[in-house]
Amino acid sequence: MSGRDPLSGPVVAVYPGTFDPLTNGHIDIIERGSRLFESVIVAILENPDKNPLLTIAERKALIERAASRLPNVRVESFAGLLADYARSRRARVIVRGLRAVSDFEYEFQMALMNRRLNPEMETVFMMPNVAYSYLSSRLVKEVVSLGGSVRGLVPPAVERVIVRRARERGLSLGPAGGRPMSVAAPGAEGSAVGAPGGAERARPASRKRPAPRKGVGKKRGSR
Ligand code: PNS
Repeated sequence: MSGRDPLSGPVVAVYPGTFDPLTNGHIDIIERGSRLFESVIVAILENPDKNPLLTIAERKALIERAASRLPNVRVESFAGLLADYARSRRARVIVRGLRAVSDFEYEFQMALMNRRLNPEMETVFMMPNVAYSYLSSRLVKEVVSLGGSVRGLVPPAVERVIVRRARERGLSLGPAGGRPMSVAAPGAEGSAVGAPGGAERARPASRKRPAPRKGVGKKRGSR
């Protein structure tokens, strides 16, 4: 660590994530960050190996819309190491949301690895409103793919897009989607919203959630 106080002077913070899709929990963290730091960059990870529900452009547009009343928030995407991206933006803070103790181990490892890669940078954890402490993009996708409602958990614009995308992908949307409920056949996970390979981050074994039901959701979670 250099002698510079990482939190003195105007602070640019990066709030990185997959945001596939944006949830109200993410928005809560963006708002908290925008109150604390002079500037917040919401940084969407570009990962061409994954099969996300929404494109980067869609995610960017949805986040920009949700944060439109926060003048010190902007949205970008990045590829490669977060530590390098943050350095390129002269960001001294990485913001991460911490929902529960189960998030801690992975976040702790990531924060220390990022510090090693970029010692000028501090990771700051923020707790979202308790109403969102169980909320994740992975669960939102799973609920939508099974025809459940995610109203109040994501912005209305996000809800519209993900329901439409689920329809386009031929997922069962239940009565609300006008289709009979049917779960994808075993092994047909690639066609499911949130199927393995989506833009999700790997968790360490100790943090893995129970395997989802057949053809539904991911074996890995995301914010
Ligand atoms: O929304 P997520 O999945 O929790 O976000 C995870 C993310 C994007 C913050 C993380 O996967 C990341 O920073 N990826 C960039 C690659 C990198 O820097 N890896 C080393 C992290 S220690």
